[in-house]
Amino acid sequence: MPNETNDVILSVRNISKGFPGVQALSSVSLEIRRGEVHVLMGENGAGKSTLMKLLAGVYEPDGGEIILNGESVKMENPLKAQKLGVNLINQELNIAPSLTVAENVFMGNEPGRFGLIDRAYMAKKSAEALAKLGSSFPVDALAGTLSIAEQQQIEIARSIVHDGKILIMDEPTAALSDRETERLFELILSLRSKGMAIIYISHRLAEVSIIADQVSVLRDGAFIGTLRKPNLDNAEIVRMMVGRSLTDFYKHEVSGERIEGRLEVKGLTDGKRVKPTSFRAAGGEILAISGLVGSGRTELARLIFGADKKTGGDIFLDGKKAAIETPGDAIRYGIGYVPEDRKSLGLFLEMSGHENITMNVMGSTSTAGVLSGRKNDAITRTAIDRLRIRIASPRTIALSLSGGNQQKLLLARWLEIKPKAIILDEPTRGVDVGAKSEIYKLIGEIASQGVAVVFISSELPEVVGIAQRVLVMRDGGIVAELMDKKDITQETIMAYATGVEPPQSAFAANR
Ligand SMILES: Nc1ncnc2c1ncn2[C@@H]1O[C@H](COP(=O)(O)OP(=O)(O)OP(=O)(O)O)[C@@H](O)[C@H]1O
Ligand SMILES: [Mg+2]
Repeated sequence: MPNETNDVILSVRNISKGFPGVQALSSVSLEIRRGEVHVLMGENGAGKSTLMKLLAGVYEPDGGEIILNGESVKMENPLKAQKLGVNLINQELNIAPSLTVAENVFMGNEPGRFGLIDRAYMAKKSAEALAKLGSSFPVDALAGTLSIAEQQQIEIARSIVHDGKILIMDEPTAALSDRETERLFELILSLRSKGMAIIYISHRLAEVSIIADQVSVLRDGAFIGTLRKPNLDNAEIVRMMVGRSLTDFYKHEVSGERIEGRLEVKGLTDGKRVKPTSFRAAGGEILAISGLVGSGRTELARLIFGADKKTGGDIFLDGKKAAIETPGDAIRYGIGYVPEDRKSLGLFLEMSGHENITMNVMGSTSTAGVLSGRKNDAITRTAIDRLRIRIASPRTIALSLSGGNQQKLLLARWLEIKPKAIILDEPTRGVDVGAKSEIYKLIGEIASQGVAVVFISSELPEVVGIAQRVLVMRDGGIVAELMDKKDITQETIMAYATGVEPPQSAFAANR
């Protein structure tokens, strides 16, 4: 059992940090112990990533103290932090795709003498570290050819070769499959058993009970409290995060008429990852597409939206065939899409929150080409309030927003367009609990406006919570359609998604 006082390896005392227009952290204090996983939670924009960047020397605090092994230290830059044993794995991985695994492990810290880099040493040390992690890729592979999970292992290896004492992971599972997540948890627990302290940021309460020894909560830049095992109560954590209890988490209402055949997909295929696929979605309906990561859901969505090239099949909106070759076509025909990876398709980091929200609405609020500035401003303000986007001003650029708030911006844009059909691909990924609940309500409102809502999600509780009908995909095709509330359960969906023992009660659509 950890000794109550001596096991503290790192303490943060009264740390503050401001950015123009935002006080990201106000006098936060926190204690981290060796051999423990310390989970840090809080709503989007609460200051979690900022606090971690202060510990890892990315930013300097405005005030306060960092105490490492009983001594006050200054983390002037990331290399200094690394030398002191603190490594940060960011929300966005820090990997150079065109360098080898070994070069990435030693990035910015290459061993050598007389200006020559000691490649043999780098390869040997990297291989040793990766072997400890049970990784199976060669150290001379180009990092860009590896999966996200493998690239993450390179970053963990970095902390091992530098004899790290504290490993910070900022939402490490956001882009991982369930399997990769399990594997990461094994890794974290084994690092913990070797005495490493792990600070772990997550929005997923389900992960807390698996790996957390302690949970600390930040809210609006302030420290709210720490809970220790065995007192890790989810309801209490949520209350600490949002400052109230969240009842009726999935509550949403769908009213208005159903409009049959709003969106119809017939035999759509890319000849590779999506088998010829057909389904219909009605206006006013919330249709979930579930399945394991890699089952073809995102690929199907991209085909519908014209983001990838189809080799066969047709798309109809309100019974009329739509000639969709590009995302621009899809938008003109009335299809909206919120992609799973907000950076690659959609969000413009250098543009303001206002521009990001109103960019596709511009057309509809301009009269004879003159933009109605006031109407646009109102749209932006309403969206910011409604989704509780934490942004200093509508003119603040998207790049300076926290991860979850960037996601909300993107969602806000589509909410304004009122398309005929909208495809939401993992819309609550990286979004805090309060905002999740808010997004479910909004989805209900969008459906009530007669929009066909196609909702892709790996989080089964949320599929069960809000879907009226569920299509399950496996290996690039739809393997089941669940229409009855009594069939829409996590167990049934999982059974079809994995292909083990489909339950008898559910109707399997054979397409
Ligand atoms: N470089 C920056 N410039 C300006 N403002 C910033 C910068 N980095 C963070 N902020 C602001 O500081 C606040 C805290 O952001 P931070 O990224 O720490 O939140 P977070 O808790 O990690 O949120 P999320 O869960 O969404 O990732 C936010 O209001 C954010 O907009
Ligand atoms: Mg963050």
